[in-house]
Amino acid sequence: MGKTFKIGILGAGWIAGKMAETVAAMDGYEIFAVASRSLEKAQAFASKWNICKAFGSYEELVSEKEIDMIYIATPHSHHYQHTKLAIEHGKPCLVEKAFTANAREAKDLLEFAKKRNVFVTEAIWTRYMPLSHKIKELLENGAIGEPRLLSASLCYPLEDKERITNPALCGGALLDVGVYVLNFARMYFGNNVVKTVTNCQLGETEMDMQESISLSYADGKMANLQAGARCLNDRQGIISGTEGYIRVDNVNCPERVEVYRNYSLVETYLKPENMISGYEYQVMESRRCIESGLLESPMMPHAETISVMQQMDSLRKEWGVVYPMDKQY
Ligand SMILES: NC(=O)c1ccc[n+]([C@@H]2O[C@H](COP(=O)([O-])OP(=O)(O)OC[C@H]3O[C@@H](n4cnc5c(N)ncnc54)[C@H](OP(=O)(O)O)[C@@H]3O)[C@@H](O)[C@H]2O)c1
Repeated sequence: MGKTFKIGILGAGWIAGKMAETVAAMDGYEIFAVASRSLEKAQAFASKWNICKAFGSYEELVSEKEIDMIYIATPHSHHYQHTKLAIEHGKPCLVEKAFTANAREAKDLLEFAKKRNVFVTEAIWTRYMPLSHKIKELLENGAIGEPRLLSASLCYPLEDKERITNPALCGGALLDVGVYVLNFARMYFGNNVVKTVTNCQLGETEMDMQESISLSYADGKMANLQAGARCLNDRQGIISGTEGYIRVDNVNCPERVEVYRNYSLVETYLKPENMISGYEYQVMESRRCIESGLLESPMMPHAETISVMQQMDSLRKEWGVVYPMDKQY
Protein backbone atom coordinates (compact mmCIF):
# COMPACT_ATOMS: atom_id res chain seq x y z
CA MET A 1 0.00 0.00 0.00
CA GLY A 2 1.34 3.45 -0.94
CA LYS A 3 1.26 6.46 1.32
CA THR A 4 -2.13 8.06 1.96
CA PHE A 5 -2.40 11.59 0.55
CA LYS A 6 -3.55 13.85 3.37
CA ILE A 7 -5.73 16.86 2.64
CA GLY A 8 -6.69 19.75 4.90
CA ILE A 9 -9.94 21.63 4.25
CA LEU A 10 -9.91 25.37 4.96
CA GLY A 11 -13.47 26.63 5.54
CA ALA A 12 -16.25 24.23 6.54
CA GLY A 13 -19.05 25.36 4.21
CA TRP A 14 -21.15 23.73 1.47
CA ILE A 15 -18.50 22.77 -1.07
CA ALA A 16 -16.21 21.58 1.75
CA GLY A 17 -18.89 18.99 2.60
CA LYS A 18 -19.03 17.85 -1.04
CA MET A 19 -15.25 17.46 -1.08
CA ALA A 20 -15.24 15.53 2.22
CA GLU A 21 -17.92 13.19 0.88
CA THR A 22 -15.93 12.67 -2.34
CA VAL A 23 -12.56 12.04 -0.67
CA ALA A 24 -14.19 9.58 1.74
CA ALA A 25 -14.89 7.39 -1.30
CA MET A 26 -11.36 7.67 -2.78
CA ASP A 27 -8.71 5.01 -2.12
CA GLY A 28 -5.34 6.37 -0.94
CA TYR A 29 -6.71 9.82 0.02
CA GLU A 30 -7.90 11.21 3.32
CA ILE A 31 -9.28 14.47 4.68
CA PHE A 32 -6.87 14.61 7.59
CA ALA A 33 -7.97 17.94 9.10
CA VAL A 34 -10.58 20.64 8.75
CA ALA A 35 -10.46 24.25 9.93
CA SER A 36 -13.28 26.67 10.55
CA ARG A 37 -13.37 30.09 12.17
CA SER A 38 -15.47 28.33 14.81
CA LEU A 39 -14.05 25.30 16.64
CA GLU A 40 -17.55 23.88 17.26
CA LYS A 41 -18.30 24.03 13.54
CA ALA A 42 -14.98 22.35 12.70
CA GLN A 43 -15.63 19.63 15.27
CA ALA A 44 -19.16 18.99 13.95
CA PHE A 45 -17.79 18.78 10.39
CA ALA A 46 -14.96 16.47 11.48
CA SER A 47 -17.29 14.15 13.32
CA LYS A 48 -19.73 14.00 10.37
CA TRP A 49 -16.95 13.05 7.94
CA ASN A 50 -14.74 11.06 10.30
CA ILE A 51 -11.84 13.54 10.05
CA CYS A 52 -8.85 13.13 12.36
CA LYS A 53 -8.27 16.77 13.37
CA ALA A 54 -10.52 19.81 13.78
CA PHE A 55 -9.12 23.34 14.18
CA GLY A 56 -10.86 26.54 15.27
CA SER A 57 -8.54 28.73 13.19
CA TYR A 58 -7.12 28.61 9.69
CA GLU A 59 -3.64 29.37 11.08
CA GLU A 60 -3.57 26.10 13.00
CA LEU A 61 -4.48 24.14 9.86
CA VAL A 62 -1.73 25.64 7.70
CA SER A 63 0.81 24.86 10.45
CA GLU A 64 -0.15 21.16 10.56
CA LYS A 65 2.93 19.21 9.45
CA GLU A 66 1.21 16.04 8.24
CA ILE A 67 -0.87 17.71 5.52
CA ASP A 68 0.09 17.18 1.84
CA MET A 69 -2.32 19.74 0.37
CA ILE A 70 -4.86 22.34 1.48
CA TYR A 71 -8.22 22.72 -0.24
CA ILE A 72 -9.30 26.37 -0.06
CA ALA A 73 -13.11 26.30 0.26
CA THR A 74 -13.90 29.87 1.35
CA PRO A 75 -15.75 32.53 -0.75
CA HIS A 76 -13.91 33.96 -3.80
CA SER A 77 -13.34 37.19 -1.88
CA HIS A 78 -11.09 35.36 0.58
CA HIS A 79 -9.14 32.98 -1.68
CA TYR A 80 -6.22 35.40 -2.03
CA GLN A 81 -5.75 35.88 1.70
CA HIS A 82 -6.29 32.22 2.65
CA THR A 83 -4.15 30.74 -0.15
CA LYS A 84 -1.35 33.18 0.69
CA LEU A 85 -1.49 32.03 4.31
CA ALA A 86 -1.15 28.39 3.23
CA ILE A 87 1.69 29.14 0.80
CA GLU A 88 3.55 31.07 3.51
CA HIS A 89 3.54 27.78 5.41
CA GLY A 90 4.77 25.88 2.34
CA LYS A 91 1.48 24.07 1.75
CA PRO A 92 0.40 23.15 -1.81
CA CYS A 93 -3.12 24.41 -2.55
CA LEU A 94 -6.18 23.45 -4.57
CA VAL A 95 -8.15 26.73 -4.66
CA GLU A 96 -11.88 26.87 -5.43
CA LYS A 97 -13.11 28.91 -8.37
CA ALA A 98 -13.30 31.80 -9.02
CA PHE A 99 -9.56 31.81 -8.30
CA THR A 100 -9.47 35.30 -6.74
CA ALA A 101 -11.42 38.57 -6.85
CA ASN A 102 -9.52 39.92 -9.86
CA ALA A 103 -6.47 39.39 -12.10
CA ARG A 104 -4.21 41.57 -9.94
CA GLU A 105 -4.75 39.23 -6.98
CA ALA A 106 -4.34 36.13 -9.18
CA LYS A 107 -1.00 37.31 -10.62
CA ASP A 108 0.33 38.34 -7.24
CA LEU A 109 -0.65 35.03 -5.63
CA LEU A 110 0.78 32.87 -8.40
CA GLU A 111 4.05 34.80 -8.45
CA PHE A 112 4.28 34.38 -4.70
CA ALA A 113 3.68 30.61 -4.99
CA LYS A 114 6.31 30.27 -7.71
CA LYS A 115 8.89 32.16 -5.63
CA ARG A 116 8.18 29.89 -2.69
CA ASN A 117 8.26 26.79 -4.92
CA VAL A 118 4.75 25.76 -3.88
CA PHE A 119 2.17 24.04 -6.11
CA VAL A 120 -1.15 25.85 -6.63
CA THR A 121 -4.02 25.08 -8.95
CA GLU A 122 -7.53 26.36 -9.49
CA ALA A 123 -10.35 23.97 -8.53
CA ILE A 124 -12.29 24.58 -11.73
CA TRP A 125 -13.36 20.94 -11.70
CA THR A 126 -14.57 20.82 -15.32
CA ARG A 127 -11.00 21.21 -16.58
CA TYR A 128 -9.89 17.96 -14.95
CA MET A 129 -12.79 15.71 -16.01
CA PRO A 130 -12.42 12.78 -18.41
CA LEU A 131 -15.41 13.83 -20.55
CA SER A 132 -13.98 17.37 -20.95
CA HIS A 133 -10.86 15.79 -22.43
CA LYS A 134 -13.01 13.51 -24.62
CA ILE A 135 -14.78 16.55 -26.16
CA LYS A 136 -11.41 18.06 -27.06
CA GLU A 137 -10.32 14.79 -28.64
CA LEU A 138 -13.57 14.55 -30.66
CA LEU A 139 -13.09 18.09 -31.99
CA GLU A 140 -9.43 17.45 -32.87
CA ASN A 141 -10.40 14.25 -34.68
CA GLY A 142 -12.95 16.07 -36.84
CA ALA A 143 -16.08 14.44 -35.34
CA ILE A 144 -18.17 17.46 -36.44
CA GLY A 145 -15.97 18.73 -39.25
CA GLU A 146 -14.62 22.23 -38.66
CA PRO A 147 -15.99 23.68 -35.37
CA ARG A 148 -17.47 27.16 -35.95
CA LEU A 149 -20.07 28.07 -33.32
CA LEU A 150 -20.47 27.32 -29.62
CA SER A 151 -23.22 28.03 -27.12
CA ALA A 152 -23.19 27.40 -23.39
CA SER A 153 -25.62 28.33 -20.68
CA LEU A 154 -25.50 27.94 -16.91
CA CYS A 155 -28.02 29.42 -14.49
CA TYR A 156 -29.13 28.59 -10.96
CA PRO A 157 -31.72 30.42 -8.83
CA LEU A 158 -29.27 31.98 -6.36
CA GLU A 159 -30.35 35.62 -6.21
CA ASP A 160 -31.23 35.54 -2.50
CA LYS A 161 -27.77 34.18 -1.50
CA GLU A 162 -25.46 36.64 0.26
CA ARG A 163 -22.45 35.47 -1.77
CA ILE A 164 -24.32 36.58 -4.93
CA THR A 165 -25.61 39.93 -3.64
CA ASN A 166 -22.73 41.14 -1.44
CA PRO A 167 -19.90 43.04 -3.23
CA ALA A 168 -17.58 42.31 -0.29
CA LEU A 169 -17.93 38.56 -1.04
CA CYS A 170 -17.33 39.21 -4.78
CA GLY A 171 -21.00 38.81 -5.60
CA GLY A 172 -22.65 38.43 -8.98
CA ALA A 173 -23.30 35.55 -11.34
CA LEU A 174 -20.07 35.92 -13.34
CA LEU A 175 -17.55 34.72 -10.74
CA ASP A 176 -19.94 32.10 -9.40
CA VAL A 177 -21.35 30.46 -12.56
CA GLY A 178 -20.27 32.61 -15.52
CA VAL A 179 -16.74 31.37 -14.95
CA TYR A 180 -17.89 27.92 -16.15
CA VAL A 181 -19.27 29.06 -19.49
CA LEU A 182 -16.16 31.18 -20.10
CA ASN A 183 -14.00 28.14 -19.33
CA PHE A 184 -16.17 25.95 -21.59
CA ALA A 185 -15.56 28.32 -24.50
CA ARG A 186 -11.84 28.64 -23.71
CA MET A 187 -11.32 24.87 -23.48
CA TYR A 188 -12.62 24.31 -27.01
CA PHE A 189 -12.21 27.63 -28.85
CA GLY A 190 -9.11 29.04 -27.11
CA ASN A 191 -8.60 32.63 -26.02
CA ASN A 192 -7.82 34.61 -29.18
CA VAL A 193 -10.94 36.76 -28.81
CA VAL A 194 -11.13 39.78 -31.13
CA LYS A 195 -14.56 41.11 -30.20
CA THR A 196 -16.84 40.84 -27.14
CA VAL A 197 -20.48 41.98 -27.08
CA THR A 198 -22.47 41.65 -23.85
CA ASN A 199 -25.75 42.34 -22.15
CA CYS A 200 -26.07 42.30 -18.37
CA GLN A 201 -28.73 42.95 -15.74
CA LEU A 202 -27.61 44.21 -12.36
CA GLY A 203 -29.40 43.55 -9.05
CA GLU A 204 -30.18 45.99 -6.22
CA THR A 205 -26.60 45.87 -4.92
CA GLU A 206 -25.12 46.54 -8.39
CA MET A 207 -23.94 42.95 -8.79
CA ASP A 208 -24.55 41.14 -12.12
CA MET A 209 -27.59 38.86 -11.86
CA GLN A 210 -27.73 37.53 -15.41
CA GLU A 211 -25.73 38.09 -18.54
CA SER A 212 -25.14 37.12 -22.13
CA ILE A 213 -21.67 37.28 -23.64
CA SER A 214 -20.91 36.89 -27.33
CA LEU A 215 -17.29 36.30 -28.37
CA SER A 216 -15.74 36.45 -31.84
CA TYR A 217 -12.39 34.73 -32.39
CA ALA A 218 -9.54 35.63 -34.73
CA ASP A 219 -10.06 32.39 -36.69
CA GLY A 220 -13.73 33.17 -37.42
CA LYS A 221 -15.30 31.09 -34.67
CA MET A 222 -18.03 32.51 -32.41
CA ALA A 223 -19.25 31.66 -28.89
CA ASN A 224 -22.54 32.75 -27.32
CA LEU A 225 -22.64 32.34 -23.56
CA GLN A 226 -25.32 32.88 -20.91
CA ALA A 227 -24.99 32.79 -17.13
CA GLY A 228 -27.25 33.84 -14.34
CA ALA A 229 -28.46 33.66 -10.77
CA ARG A 230 -32.15 34.22 -11.49
CA CYS A 231 -33.42 30.96 -12.94
CA LEU A 232 -32.82 27.27 -13.35
CA ASN A 233 -31.85 26.24 -16.87
CA ASP A 234 -30.72 23.33 -19.04
CA ARG A 235 -26.93 23.83 -18.45
CA GLN A 236 -26.30 22.74 -22.04
CA GLY A 237 -23.30 23.30 -24.20
CA ILE A 238 -23.50 22.87 -27.97
CA ILE A 239 -20.52 23.00 -30.30
CA SER A 240 -21.48 23.17 -33.98
CA GLY A 241 -19.27 22.35 -36.91
CA THR A 242 -19.47 22.06 -40.68
CA GLU A 243 -20.58 18.42 -40.47
CA GLY A 244 -22.50 18.14 -37.21
CA TYR A 245 -22.71 19.18 -33.59
CA ILE A 246 -21.78 18.01 -30.10
CA ARG A 247 -24.29 18.39 -27.26
CA VAL A 248 -22.87 18.46 -23.74
CA ASP A 249 -24.96 17.83 -20.65
CA ASN A 250 -23.88 19.71 -18.59
CA VAL A 251 -21.27 22.44 -19.02
CA ASN A 252 -19.88 22.52 -15.48
CA CYS A 253 -19.90 18.75 -14.89
CA PRO A 254 -20.10 16.91 -18.23
CA GLU A 255 -22.00 13.66 -17.70
CA ARG A 256 -23.27 12.99 -21.21
CA VAL A 257 -21.79 13.98 -24.56
CA GLU A 258 -23.67 13.32 -27.79
CA VAL A 259 -22.31 13.64 -31.31
CA TYR A 260 -24.83 14.40 -34.09
CA ARG A 261 -24.20 14.22 -37.83
CA ASN A 262 -26.94 14.94 -40.41
CA TYR A 263 -29.26 15.61 -37.42
CA SER A 264 -28.83 12.01 -36.25
CA LEU A 265 -27.25 10.92 -32.99
CA VAL A 266 -24.18 8.88 -33.97
CA GLU A 267 -22.13 8.59 -30.76
CA THR A 268 -22.81 8.97 -27.03
CA TYR A 269 -20.20 9.18 -24.28
CA LEU A 270 -21.12 8.96 -20.61
CA LYS A 271 -19.26 9.92 -17.43
CA PRO A 272 -17.04 7.10 -16.10
CA GLU A 273 -19.10 4.44 -14.29
CA ASN A 274 -16.88 4.72 -11.21
CA MET A 275 -17.08 8.55 -11.02
CA ILE A 276 -17.78 9.61 -7.45
CA SER A 277 -18.91 13.23 -7.78
CA GLY A 278 -16.50 14.62 -10.36
CA TYR A 279 -14.56 16.54 -7.70
CA GLU A 280 -12.07 13.67 -7.40
CA TYR A 281 -10.28 14.36 -10.70
CA GLN A 282 -8.89 17.75 -9.61
CA VAL A 283 -7.66 16.11 -6.39
CA MET A 284 -5.92 13.26 -8.27
CA GLU A 285 -4.33 15.69 -10.73
CA SER A 286 -3.10 17.90 -7.86
CA ARG A 287 -1.49 14.88 -6.21
CA ARG A 288 0.14 13.82 -9.49
CA CYS A 289 1.61 17.32 -9.94
CA ILE A 290 2.79 17.64 -6.34
CA GLU A 291 4.44 14.22 -6.41
CA SER A 292 6.10 15.02 -9.76
CA GLY A 293 7.46 18.32 -8.42
CA LEU A 294 5.31 20.47 -10.72
CA LEU A 295 4.23 23.94 -9.59
CA GLU A 296 1.15 24.05 -11.83
CA SER A 297 -1.11 21.64 -13.68
CA PRO A 298 -1.06 21.44 -17.49
CA MET A 299 -4.84 20.95 -17.27
CA MET A 300 -5.27 24.49 -15.89
CA PRO A 301 -2.00 26.41 -16.37
CA HIS A 302 -1.44 29.52 -14.25
CA ALA A 303 -1.43 31.70 -17.38
CA GLU A 304 -4.93 30.44 -18.16
CA THR A 305 -6.19 31.12 -14.63
CA ILE A 306 -4.85 34.70 -14.91
CA SER A 307 -6.33 35.12 -18.39
CA VAL A 308 -9.79 34.02 -17.18
CA MET A 309 -9.55 36.57 -14.34
CA GLN A 310 -8.54 39.28 -16.84
CA GLN A 311 -11.51 38.40 -19.04
CA MET A 312 -13.85 38.62 -16.03
CA ASP A 313 -12.24 41.93 -14.93
CA SER A 314 -12.98 43.51 -18.30
CA LEU A 315 -16.57 42.18 -18.33
CA ARG A 316 -17.15 43.60 -14.85
CA LYS A 317 -15.61 46.90 -15.89
CA GLU A 318 -18.04 47.14 -18.80
CA TRP A 319 -20.99 46.37 -16.49
CA GLY A 320 -19.86 48.57 -13.59
CA VAL A 321 -19.58 45.64 -11.17
CA VAL A 322 -16.96 46.66 -8.61
CA TYR A 323 -15.53 44.81 -5.59
CA PRO A 324 -13.71 46.42 -2.66
CA MET A 325 -10.56 44.48 -3.73
CA ASP A 326 -10.53 46.30 -7.09
CA LYS A 327 -9.69 49.52 -5.25
CA GLN A 328 -6.83 48.18 -3.14
CA TYR A 329 -3.68 49.26 -4.91
N1 LIG B 1 -16.82 23.53 -7.79
C1 LIG B 1 -18.08 23.65 -7.47
O1 LIG B 1 -18.94 22.92 -7.95
C2 LIG B 1 -18.49 24.68 -6.48
C3 LIG B 1 -19.78 24.66 -5.96
C4 LIG B 1 -20.09 25.59 -4.97
C5 LIG B 1 -19.16 26.52 -4.57
N2 LIG B 1 -17.92 26.53 -5.13
C6 LIG B 1 -16.92 27.52 -4.70
O2 LIG B 1 -16.52 27.21 -3.38
C7 LIG B 1 -16.30 28.40 -2.63
C8 LIG B 1 -17.16 28.33 -1.37
O3 LIG B 1 -18.52 28.23 -1.74
P1 LIG B 1 -19.61 27.53 -0.77
O4 LIG B 1 -20.84 27.39 -1.59
O5 LIG B 1 -19.06 26.35 -0.12
O6 LIG B 1 -19.81 28.71 0.28
P2 LIG B 1 -20.21 28.59 1.83
O7 LIG B 1 -21.13 27.43 2.05
O8 LIG B 1 -20.67 29.95 2.22
O9 LIG B 1 -18.85 28.25 2.54
C9 LIG B 1 -17.77 29.11 2.56
C10 LIG B 1 -17.04 28.97 3.89
O10 LIG B 1 -15.97 29.90 3.89
C11 LIG B 1 -15.67 30.29 5.23
N3 LIG B 1 -15.51 31.75 5.32
C12 LIG B 1 -14.37 32.38 5.68
N4 LIG B 1 -14.53 33.71 5.68
C13 LIG B 1 -15.81 33.92 5.33
C14 LIG B 1 -16.59 35.11 5.20
N5 LIG B 1 -16.10 36.32 5.42
N6 LIG B 1 -17.88 34.98 4.83
C15 LIG B 1 -18.41 33.76 4.59
N7 LIG B 1 -17.70 32.60 4.73
C16 LIG B 1 -16.43 32.69 5.09
C17 LIG B 1 -16.80 29.77 6.08
O11 LIG B 1 -16.28 28.65 6.76
P3 LIG B 1 -16.04 28.63 8.35
O12 LIG B 1 -17.22 29.36 8.94
O13 LIG B 1 -16.03 27.20 8.60
O14 LIG B 1 -14.74 29.31 8.63
C18 LIG B 1 -17.87 29.32 5.10
O15 LIG B 1 -18.61 28.23 5.56
C19 LIG B 1 -16.63 29.56 -3.57
O16 LIG B 1 -15.45 30.07 -4.12
C20 LIG B 1 -17.49 28.93 -4.66
O17 LIG B 1 -17.38 29.53 -5.92
C21 LIG B 1 -17.57 25.62 -6.05
